[in-house]
Amino acid sequence: MITKVEYKYSFLNFCQQNNQALFTARIQRAGRLEFSRLWALSFCDNVTHLIERVTRFMDRKKMKQGAFITFEGIEGCGKSTQAKRLAKRLGRLGIAHVMTLEPGGTEIGRKMRQVLLDARNKALTPLAELMLYAADRAQHVAEVIKPALGAGKWVICDRFSDATVVYQGAARGQDRKLIRLLNNVVTDGILPHLTFLLDCPVEVGLSRALGRNMKGQDRFEKEALSFHRKVRQGYLDLARKNKERFVILDATAGPKEIEAEILRSLAPLLRERQKKGVCSCNALGSQRDPDLEEMV
Ligand SMILES: Nc1ncnc2c1ncn2[C@@H]1O[C@H](COP(=O)(O)OP(=O)(O)OP(=O)(O)O)[C@@H](O)[C@H]1O
Ligand SMILES: [Mg+2]
Repeated sequence: MITKVEYKYSFLNFCQQNNQALFTARIQRAGRLEFSRLWALSFCDNVTHLIERVTRFMDRKKMKQGAFITFEGIEGCGKSTQAKRLAKRLGRLGIAHVMTLEPGGTEIGRKMRQVLLDARNKALTPLAELMLYAADRAQHVAEVIKPALGAGKWVICDRFSDATVVYQGAARGQDRKLIRLLNNVVTDGILPHLTFLLDCPVEVGLSRALGRNMKGQDRFEKEALSFHRKVRQGYLDLARKNKERFVILDATAGPKEIEAEILRSLAPLLRERQKKGVCSCNALGSQRDPDLEEMV
């Protein structure tokens, strides 16, 4: 026979056990909820990560379709002439491209170009000059060069980071480490695929520039011959140190001859892009360019 006290204890025991079960069930439910929440979060994270990776892959793939070509050299050596000729050729080949220049490849950059080239700005210090070039390039890379390369276009640029190494470094004597650091930061690590250095004696370049200028000499053209000689030597040294990227051209030759040399140097790159279907010489129809087709 069960006593009153025993009954009371067994009842209490029963409640405690059930309470515990209830408590455990609650914890399990909360745990399950938490687990599903975590799973959902990690799923979202994975999907975002996957999207980012695919986008990056596509960007890189597109970047590989384009090419970054720069023209360098002393004043009046013929950079702009050859950059325009190349842009025309690429246009005829149906290759999407952008032709740009430094300083002044953007609207903001054009204001900096005015300051940099204005011969009246004699008081501009070498460091201020270097910083203005860096600012111009940062804007140019972000606004023009990177988006164009990202869209798989060819970018033809009249002067780029090498000009700073030579003009502000070799000729003006600014700290090379600082120039390298600034260039790395503002270019976001972007280097040209190929750089054409148009080389000629400074007297030739300056007399061409003088013959062309209607508005008078700019701040750089007004510099002494010794400055321009340092620039020429600086470019040659840089080209010798970066043989895989630079092509040195004799800028005393005629514009047509120089252009042919440029196209010959670009033939492997064009052939590679043609394989990827970026340019198709066969699809040019009436706009066929026999010179280039032969080279490609
Ligand atoms: N190979 C060449 N032979 C003779 N004259 C040339 C040649 N290339 C360009 N020129 C002429 O020389 C002048 C300067 O050329 P261009 O403007 O292309 O030089 P640049 O290097 O861009 O000069 P800058 O450094 O001042 O921008 C122009 O009048 C151009 O027509
Ligand atoms: Mg020019």
